Parts: sequence; structure tokens; C-alpha cells
Amino acid sequence: GADSPVVVVANRLPVDQVTGADGEPRWQRSPGGLVTALEPFVAGRGGAWVGWSGSAGEAPEPFESGGMSLIPVALTDDEVDRYYEGMSNASLWPLYHDVVEKPEYHRNWWDTYVQVNKRFAQRAAEVAAENAIVWVHDYQLQLVPALLRQQRPDLTIGFFLHIPFPPYELFTQLPWRSAIVEGLLGADLVGFQRPAAAQNFVQLARRLHDLPARGQVVEYDGRTVAARAFPISIDVAAFDELARSPEVLARAKEIREELGSPSTIILGVDRLDYTKGIGVRLEAFEELLEDGAVEAPDTVLVQVATPSRERVEHYVHMRETIEQQVGHINGVFGSIAGPAVHYFNQSMPREELAALYRAADVMLVTPYRDGMNLVAKEYVAARGDLGGALVLSEFAGAAAELKQAFLVNPHDIAGVKSQLLRALRMEPAEGAKRMRAMRRHLFKNDLDHWASSFFEALRSQASGQPTGR
Ligand code: UDP
Ligand code: G6P
Repeated sequence: GADSPVVVVANRLPVDQVTGADGEPRWQRSPGGLVTALEPFVAGRGGAWVGWSGSAGEAPEPFESGGMSLIPVALTDDEVDRYYEGMSNASLWPLYHDVVEKPEYHRNWWDTYVQVNKRFAQRAAEVAAENAIVWVHDYQLQLVPALLRQQRPDLTIGFFLHIPFPPYELFTQLPWRSAIVEGLLGADLVGFQRPAAAQNFVQLARRLHDLPARGQVVEYDGRTVAARAFPISIDVAAFDELARSPEVLARAKEIREELGSPSTIILGVDRLDYTKGIGVRLEAFEELLEDGAVEAPDTVLVQVATPSRERVEHYVHMRETIEQQVGHINGVFGSIAGPAVHYFNQSMPREELAALYRAADVMLVTPYRDGMNLVAKEYVAARGDLGGALVLSEFAGAAAELKQAFLVNPHDIAGVKSQLLRALRMEPAEGAKRMRAMRRHLFKNDLDHWASSFFEALRSQASGQPTGR
């Protein structure tokens, strides 16, 4: 039925097991857009969530948390190295993000990826009730749909990819390209952020596997598999409410004071990831300081760069580069009154982020490539006062929806600078008009809309299968 329990399968649980200062293990919310979007959905339906606890070793017992049944899957140290840091985050992540960094391909990473995908499929097969819906998520688990179908042909299986899906010319670099496509074809419905990604997938099925396809539907193994776009979103009303709360508003005011009451606050919030274009922002800001177009500390840049995938080489290098850049800018443009760039290599709770969004005059979101970018949507959702301005990369999925943002090409520093200046100098009335239009779009296209469109499409796809479930 419409409310039948759902089993979500994702690499990460919504909480990570960490060791506290007292040496005792405790659970803390996991980073990233996948968790932001899925958590309210699973909690709202009382669903089960199969995922990794974030640390190597034995898996904790399944437990209940926030209305969800959490089912931990164990990974050994070697598996974390090869499946998570290797295949997922040093092969697939860069390949799917337009090879912003060069992907590496290693056979032992792949073997472990297969092995771990089998474990996730096995665990999902154990917990899913007869005829249940299983919803598999993201690039770490692309083999799970087919593995699960082998064991449990009764299930309805959906898959959603949170990151971009590359065109044929890039995807076919992958030595294991056929296995990945076959893994995904185990689903009834494969969802993507953008229509172009769904088309890329259908084209691969056609060209690589010679499969007949009509529009967005591929024929495979006596079934049909649909590929469609479902742009992900956030719980807009909840974030709007959070950002209007007296606590958050008071904190926003306090943040501005603690920053030395600058007239302008520019904000960036990202996982410290090379796809996010954090260096672009620093470069544009530095040049504006050099040009004298802005002055510090009357104008400051606040950059939250949350630690992420810290053992993967590209991330180590990236952090060094960014921190050098910040140090350089502050060395030249800071003063006793304060730095030009306030940099935080820390994870921030959502309340603090909401207050930062409220305090910021301009939000800078400049990824080279991003599946969606929920930070951009959160900023808009937080601005019920119709204040602030959003500068947004054309290469974020969110740009297809937030059309009234100041769109930029992150490869074009001159363009980023001029759009940033436009955003800083715009009349409040124009800003309010842009913000209102973006908010109207978001309130219609919120998380509920995303999940229910996916489920409706999944059900109609599954009920049309020849086995007639
Ligand atoms: N986030 C957070 N604390 C932080 C940094 C980020 O809670 O310190 C959240 C942020 O609010 C957003 C998500 O992490 O909901 C990031 O999602 P996005 O789609 O922007 O990027 P991703 O990290 O998934 O690539
Ligand atoms: C992105 C990915 C998610 C991932 C998140 C955080 O949102 O799409 O699958 O969970 O980043 O990355 P991490 O490697 O820490 O899970």
C-alpha cells in the first residue's frame, strides 16, 4: 500500500559511530546531502535503513533511532580502503564528476566493491518483507539492484543516483562499465538528478549492451527498466521554520557581531571536496580585495569546509592548497581588527548553518560539478525575510531550478567576480523579487514532492512488469 514500509539501502547510515573525548563510542549525524534528504523521509514512514556505521570493524546490532530501524553493515579496514576510499571515492566519484580530478582504476578495489555490494544486497534481502519496496542509493552501491533481484524476485526495486551520471564517452573509461550498467538494470526504476543523466544511462544500455529502448524505458531480461530524472530537494517548510525561530535569529545577529559587525558577509558551506570549487571562491575574493572593489574586514568571507574523506589523497592535497590560500589572503589583507577570510574545517550543526545563512548577505556556491547541491536550496529556504543573494554555479543540478540566482561559470574567474559584485550591489527590491521566485519554486518542489514522484513512478513501473506484481 501507499504507506507500506520501505527499506532504504545506502552506504552510510544517517548517523556515524564516533569515539567521544571520553573514549566512549557515540552516534552523531553523518555529513552530506544524501542524509539530509533521506532522513526525514525514512523517519516519517517508519522505514528501515541498511548502511555502514562510518568506522571499520564489527557492526553494531540493529537499533531503533528517530523512528527508523537502523541496520548496520560491517566493513573491515581493507574494505574501507578499497571499496569506500578507493573504488567509490577515487574511481567513481571523480569519473562521475567530469573527471575534475583524474580517477584511478585498480582491480583489487573493484573486487572489494563487488564483495561489499554483495553484503549490502544480502542484508537488504534478509530484512525486506515479502513484496516490499527496496530503495537503493548512490554510486557506492550500483551492483545492489541486480544482486538483490537474483535473491528476491518478489521485491520492487528502485535506485537513485545522487551524483551526476557521465556521458558515454567518459563512462566507458571504466574497466567494469558493463557490470555497473547491468547492476543498475536490476532495478525497476533508476532515478537521476537531471534528465541528461537519465539519457546518458539509456544511451549506454543501448550502445554498450545493444538493448532495445523506447524513450526512457529499456527492455532487459524480459522486463523493462525506466530511467528518469527526479531532482532531489529538502524539507523546505521545516528549514524555513528553523531559520525563523527566535534562537536562530538571535544567533544570526550574534554571528554578525562576533565577526566585528562587517557591512557585508559572504558565505560558503561545503564538504571539503575538490568538486566544490572552494579555491575559485577564494581566488575571486582575493582579486576583488586586490582591485579595491571590496575591503576587509568591512567585507568578510566565511567559509565552512567540513572534513570529508580525509584519507583519500586528492582530499589531502586539496586541504593543503585551500588552507595555504586562506593563509595567504589573511596574511596580505587581514588586520588587527580581524581576518578577511574566516575558515572553519569543522562540521556545523544545522541550527548554526541556518543562522549563518540568515547572517550572510551573499551565498557563494561554485562547484565545478554537483549532482544537486542542497546547500543552495537550504540558503533560499532560510531566507523567509527575502534578504540575501545567491551566486550559483551553472554546473550544479540546482541551477536548473534556481534560475533567479546569479549564475556563474566557475572556470571563469572574471565572470564569478562580476556576478559577485552584482549580487553585492543589487537593490534590495530586486533581491527580494529573485528570492521570492526561488522560494515559490522550492515550496512546490520539496522533499515530499521528490519522494512521492519517485514512488509513484516506481509503483507504476513495477505493476507493469510481465511477472505482474
Ligand atoms: N552540512 C552540515 N554540516 C556541515 C556542512 C554541511 O550539516 O558542516 C549539510 C548541509 O546542510 C547539507 C549537506 O550537508 O544539507 C550537504 O549537501 P550538498 O547537497 O550541498 O552536498 P554534498 O555534501 O552532498 O556533496
Ligand atoms: C554525497 C554523496 C553521498 C555521501 C555524502 C557524504 O552527498 O552523494 O553518498 O554520503 O556525499 O560523503 P561520505 O563519503 O562522507 O559519505
